[in-house]
Amino acid sequence: MNDFIAIANYSSEELQELLDVAVSLKNEWKNEGNQPIFKNKVLAMVFQKPSLRTRVSFDMAMRHLGGDALYLSPAEIGLGKRESIADIARVLSGYVDIVMARVFDHAHVEELAKWASIPIINGLSDYNHPCQGMADALTIYEEYGYMKGLNVTYIGDGNNVAVSLLHVCAKLGANFTAATPKGYEMPAPTIELGKKFAAESGSSVTELYDPHAAVKNADVIYTDTWTSMGQEEETHKRQAVFPPYQVNAGLVAEAKGSAIVMHCLPAHRGEEITDEVADGPHSRLFPQAHNRLHAQKAILVKLVQ
Ligand code: CP
Ligand code: NVA
Repeated sequence: MNDFIAIANYSSEELQELLDVAVSLKNEWKNEGNQPIFKNKVLAMVFQKPSLRTRVSFDMAMRHLGGDALYLSPAEIGLGKRESIADIARVLSGYVDIVMARVFDHAHVEELAKWASIPIINGLSDYNHPCQGMADALTIYEEYGYMKGLNVTYIGDGNNVAVSLLHVCAKLGANFTAATPKGYEMPAPTIELGKKFAAESGSSVTELYDPHAAVKNADVIYTDTWTSMGQEEETHKRQAVFPPYQVNAGLVAEAKGSAIVMHCLPAHRGEEITDEVADGPHSRLFPQAHNRLHAQKAILVKLVQ
């Protein structure tokens, strides 16, 4: 594993191994604390968009492992504007040990990886959010003890978070169903890839428009914002389309009684999810956010091994 750019790039075995490492690092942290295996190692965190979870969890992950992290704000390096991505990648390669980048255009994180001689981690792009996907899988795995055969339903916008969730589910054998409004489906190539992975793992991928049909028999209900970062000018248009896709108590009651509700956060309470659900007994929103820390430690360790 040289970089961590998209879930689709890794085999089921590699993803399972990452999960196993995440579980063991989490246990180690809870018991005696993590070993300082990253002493003198530094992660540069390049952000083109705001962040709470990604920024703090990567910084803390490095500290837990005895290393350090540098935050580079959206205004700071002007990825591809102040300086070319190829030049930034080669300069950072001489200063730090790993780079995590949150970008608008997925091609930009790929470009960083192409030119850097150190590992590059995708901290969210318009295509996917692989670190989130690993934290999501860890959360589901902790809840149920397995992924194979579970029914994971994504409700809402067919966005970057949905793509990582689809691919990690399909790779690890969970059945994935998405219910999106017409015009907001997941990109066709990501569905095709998901179907290929699902065929290999013996699971299924289903695309629907009806959220009620989608949550039937769900073990996991997942939602995300209706308007992702960079799409702000579409907010009003989307607010008119998405209300039937709100994850509220009525919709959750149509899933299995044991179903858990997930959201990558930040949540727009009262839009894609109600307070009642976000703060209710089915919610795993905060353990899920906390698992970013442990999933990312595993990614960092695998990349620097
Ligand atoms: N889920 C997530 O990536 O959150 P941030 O945007 O706060 O990093
Ligand atoms: N889909 C959201 C996820 C934020 C973590 C976005 O891209 O803004």
